[in-house]
Amino acid sequence: MSIEKKFKLLEENSRLAELGGGEDRIKKQHDAGRKTARERIMELFDPNTFVEIDKFVTHRTTDFDMDKQKFLGDGVVTGYGKIDGRLMYVFAQDFTVFGGSLSRANADKIVKIMDLAMKMGAPVIGLNDSGGARIQEGVESLGGYADIFYRNVMSSGVIPQISAILGPCAGGAVYSPAITDFIMMVKDTSYMFVTGPDVIKTVTHEEVTKEDLGGAMTHNSKSGVAHLLANDDSQAMMMIRELMGFLPSNNMEDPPVKVCTDSIYREEDILDSIVPDDPNKPYDMHEIISKVVDDQNFFEVQPYYAKNIIIGFARLSGKPVGIVANQPSILAGVLDIDSSIKAARFVRFCDAFNIPIITFEDVPGFLPGTIQEFGGIIKHGAKLLYAFAEATVPKITVITRKAYGGAYDVMSSKHIGADMNFAYPTAEIAVMGPEGAVNIIYKNKLNEEERQAAIDDYRLRFASPYKAAALGYIDEIIYPRQTRTKLIQALEMTQNKVKTNPAKKHGNIPL
Ligand code: HXC
Repeated sequence: MSIEKKFKLLEENSRLAELGGGEDRIKKQHDAGRKTARERIMELFDPNTFVEIDKFVTHRTTDFDMDKQKFLGDGVVTGYGKIDGRLMYVFAQDFTVFGGSLSRANADKIVKIMDLAMKMGAPVIGLNDSGGARIQEGVESLGGYADIFYRNVMSSGVIPQISAILGPCAGGAVYSPAITDFIMMVKDTSYMFVTGPDVIKTVTHEEVTKEDLGGAMTHNSKSGVAHLLANDDSQAMMMIRELMGFLPSNNMEDPPVKVCTDSIYREEDILDSIVPDDPNKPYDMHEIISKVVDDQNFFEVQPYYAKNIIIGFARLSGKPVGIVANQPSILAGVLDIDSSIKAARFVRFCDAFNIPIITFEDVPGFLPGTIQEFGGIIKHGAKLLYAFAEATVPKITVITRKAYGGAYDVMSSKHIGADMNFAYPTAEIAVMGPEGAVNIIYKNKLNEEERQAAIDDYRLRFASPYKAAALGYIDEIIYPRQTRTKLIQALEMTQNKVKTNPAKKHGNIPL
């Protein structure tokens, strides 16, 4: 064969591989409101940076006449590229080829990418759109899944792993995304479940639609399985790019610093009036966060789930920080099972990837009730305590108002290792709120007038930041308008922090 013909063959094979399952299936994919694997990758990476690996891999199955149905690439596009100039690895399941189902060959491609990513210390982004295990292959496919799960676990805490669910993701296939750090889902076109509506109907007689069972909003708002919600594939790719901008490439690196044009001395007078005079009046903690961070840019994670706690990324003086904040406008900012789990996982992520944690605190305590107690608030609340305590990254806390009871200890208090603890003059740091305290101390011994006087006295003497400041539990009482500058100073002060926990195989976090 002449060189020209050899080059022509390469060109033809490349064209065939890029065609995936063919024009008709690509049209079907588009008609369903979804992009193809390659289109997604092109939007994910900086222009002209994607390099494909294993483009000509095919499956090796002969059962069910499969040897007569081969597609170059075998239903997954893998390789590496750049986001904002930084190396990232990707695998994108191609639904146009056997429904993106996982064959042995297809799993080997993903495994290769994951191994490379670990060796090079770069993140892996998985774009999931698959009918699950390649039914014609059986246990070989199951083995492939397990090989991926194993690598997900080994990579956890070493390189960031991001999953986008852009179509079906069902059965055991859900467990790879579940182990990764963040799951993004797309409205109306993606779903995740362990067992689908038909099986559920047979086993439990419940009737539920695919969307209600495992759609994007279900997992973003009800189950807490997903962390981010996009309106379509393009927005999903943009959001992943934005998210990666806050994360280091691996656990040995610091997160990427951006040029900051927002003055580090910016004071916001409005901050002085956000916390209301009346301690029982709600306010939106987002207002404080957005006034403090660079360019008011807060990338919220899980904004639809356990809204009584806020988590997300922002920058201060160009450096990424993780923010954990009670939300007084939802359930008075109380800590419950869902909010404890939500924040605990986020704190552990930040700690694993060297991202300092800023905590804004206004918490009346843990949510009382049998639902919470029977549901295990003891062990779930302990997760948040554990996560904050074991975190060795810089930890800075601002108490804006209430810091009551055990929740005071849990929310990154001085005692569990916070480096700088600030309080606003409006802070109330005590065992419990004045009303509850007076009711217990005096039982029914006081008339209404005396009771009110006792409450006022308790508030004056204990429900303030001064007792904690006198003990050194609060390092500084600050004017709210200075919050941005104070946090940036504290971050600078802590940037060379060295803190290691005792050597151990791993701790035993109450799961
Ligand atoms: C092989 C598959 C496939 C699979 C879909 N296809 N899923 N081929 N193995 N798992 C093929 C179809 O035959 C079809 O081929 C093409 O992909 C598109 O599928 P459609 O059914 O036409 O698409 P749609 O109507 O959109 O339905 C999508 C779907 C459905 C809901 C995902 O295909 C489906 O239910 N698939 C089976 C899902 C499943 O039971 N998977 C195994 C789960 S158990 P043609 O040639 O017609 O285009 C599992 C275990 C994992 O995954 C365990 C890990 C531990």
